[in-house]
Amino acid sequence: MSTENTGPTRKVKVWDLPLRLFHWLLLIAVAAAFTTIWTKSDRNLHMLAGYSVLALLLFRLVWGFIGGFHARFFNFVKGPAGILTYLGTLRAGMHDPTRTGHNALGALSVLALLLSLLFQAVSGLFNYDDDLNEGPLRKLISESLADKLHEAHEINQWIILGLVALHILAILFYRFIKKDDLITPMITGSKALPAEAGVEDARGGHVLLGAVVLAIAVGVVWYVVKKL
Ligand code: HEM
Ligand code: HEM
Repeated sequence: MSTENTGPTRKVKVWDLPLRLFHWLLLIAVAAAFTTIWTKSDRNLHMLAGYSVLALLLFRLVWGFIGGFHARFFNFVKGPAGILTYLGTLRAGMHDPTRTGHNALGALSVLALLLSLLFQAVSGLFNYDDDLNEGPLRKLISESLADKLHEAHEINQWIILGLVALHILAILFYRFIKKDDLITPMITGSKALPAEAGVEDARGGHVLLGAVVLAIAVGVVWYVVKKL
């Protein structure tokens, strides 16, 4: 099946603006966190990138309950049965490119990405290096626990890099094998679908609400970094 049809198409709203901004800002912040390590930049820059990831993830957590339709966890997180059913349809070559939002398998990778990044950002708060740099919460825990988190921060980077690689490969798979372009909706917010498919616009996810949630998330991170 393909979205390339010759009949009339309609732009269906899929992702709200705050969710899309979250995604592309997250990409920039995660790339910055890795680049500052790979280029041996000032450790403070690395921490700043890490705080940005943390604030964005706090925003996403809340947005998963009050954001636009497809951003809500209850609307895309499926149990094992849902995932097996989706795998079955994929194997039978019956992927439906007129569907919108995360599919059951994509949802799993989304959760894995969010959780592994959350672990990385939180463990970073307790991390330290040999040049006397340390995360703002390092003093709150024992040395042995800090050692464990230090090691976990190092190992988890490979999980994140693996998941990001898988994420990009999956998107390319849908684009070129299943002829389903997921990237355009993540940029413009909507997907051009055959008018007769009858898919409805995703509701909710107001930009002002997003701005308030993000401001609160930044405030919480600021408090944790400066006041705890
Ligand atoms: C550090 C790199 C990246 C990270 C951490 C990341 C993370 C994520 C997350 C967490 C989501 C789920 C959105 C949500 O519901 O919260 C997502 C979805 C998505 N990402 Fe990324 N992403 C990265 C790079 C990219 C790149 C390079 C592209 C494009 C080539 C891309 C395209 C997409 C698309 C199209 C979706 C929606 C998938 C769908 O329709 O189900 N991502 N990404
Ligand atoms: C999701 C965000 C983050 C990512 C992807 C990330 C990634 C990394 C990576 C790849 C390393 C090098 C590990 C190694 O090979 O030794 C590292 C080290 C470090 N990170 Fe992060 N980090 C993040 C967040 C943070 C945060 C929020 C802080 C502190 C506020 C932090 C503090 C540190 C410190 C102090 C080191 C140096 C440890 C050493 O020298 O081995 N990180 N981080």
